[in-house]
Amino acid sequence: MRKNVATIRKMKGSDQRISMLTAYDASFARMLESAGVDILLVGDSLGMVVLGYDSTVPVTMDEMIHHSKAVRNGAPDTLIVGDMPFMSYQVSIPEAIANAGRFMKEAGSDAVKLEGGLEVCETVRAIDAAGIPVMGHIGLTPQTAGKLGGYKVQGKDIDSAREQLASARALEKAGAFAIVLECVPAPLAQVISDQVSIPTIGIGAGAGCDGQVLVTHDLLGMFEKFTPSFVKQFTHLAPSIKEAVQLFVQEVKDGEFPGDEHSFSMKLDVDAVLEGSIQKPGNTLRITVQLIRVRDDQHLW
Ligand code: KIV
Repeated sequence: MRKNVATIRKMKGSDQRISMLTAYDASFARMLESAGVDILLVGDSLGMVVLGYDSTVPVTMDEMIHHSKAVRNGAPDTLIVGDMPFMSYQVSIPEAIANAGRFMKEAGSDAVKLEGGLEVCETVRAIDAAGIPVMGHIGLTPQTAGKLGGYKVQGKDIDSAREQLASARALEKAGAFAIVLECVPAPLAQVISDQVSIPTIGIGAGAGCDGQVLVTHDLLGMFEKFTPSFVKQFTHLAPSIKEAVQLFVQEVKDGEFPGDEHSFSMKLDVDAVLEGSIQKPGNTLRITVQLIRVRDDQHLW
C-alpha cells in the first residue's frame, strides 16, 4: 500500500527508519518500488546523473515534470516527492504554488521538496496551505552551493549549527512534513532530529536521522564522475554495464549475435522440411538428414 505523508510522519519515533532513494525513470522506479523503498524522490540531481549537466542549476520545471511522470508510471504504489528546481519557487509565492501544483496535477507526485531554511518558510507555508505537502531541505543546498562557497559540510561551527537548527524548527512550524539534512555533522543532525517533531532524512548527516536518502546512481556505482565521501556504493554496476556492452559489440562484429533463437522464422508454404548437417569427427564424415513435418514438428524420418 502506498505510504502517505501522514504514515511517513508516524514513522518518526517508531522503530522504523525511513528509506528514500532518487528515481528518474519508470524502469528504475519499478525496481525500487518492488525492493520496498518508502519514498521515491525525483531529485533535481537528475541534471547531473541523467542529463549530464555540471550542476543542478540548469534543470527546468518541464524536465522535472517529464521525469516525474515516468517515475509515477513505474511506481504507482510509492510516495513520490518531486524536487522543485532552481528558480521555480524563488521568484514569487504564486509562481511557487503553481509550479508545485504542476507536480501533483501533471506528474501525479504526492509532495514536493524545496531547498532552504528560514528564507523559504513563507513559501513552504503557502504551498502547504494550497494542499501540497512539502519536504524541506537544509544543510548543503546544492542549488545555492555557489553562495555557500562550494559543496561543503554546513553547520560545523556553533553559529552556523544554530542557524541550521533554527531553520529546521521554522520549516516544521511552516508545515513541512519532513526535512532532508544534507552534509551536516552527525551530532548536529542528531540534535535537530531530537528537537523537531517531523522526520529528518539524512544524506551525509550520520545515523541519528529518522531516515536516509541516497542518489540511486551513487548507491549502485553507476555515476563515475565523482563519488561523495558519504556515499556507500552497495554495488558497482558501471564496470558490469561496460563489460556487457563490450560483449554485445564484439558479438555483433563477429556475427555471433543474433543467433537463431533471437530471430524470427518465416511461415513456409510446405508440408515438410528436409534438415541436415555434415560433421567431420577425425577421419569420418557424418551426414545427418531428417524430414520434419511443419504442422507439428514431427520427425517423419
Ligand atoms: O536532488 C537530489 O537528489 C536531492 C537528494 C540528494 C536529497 O536533493
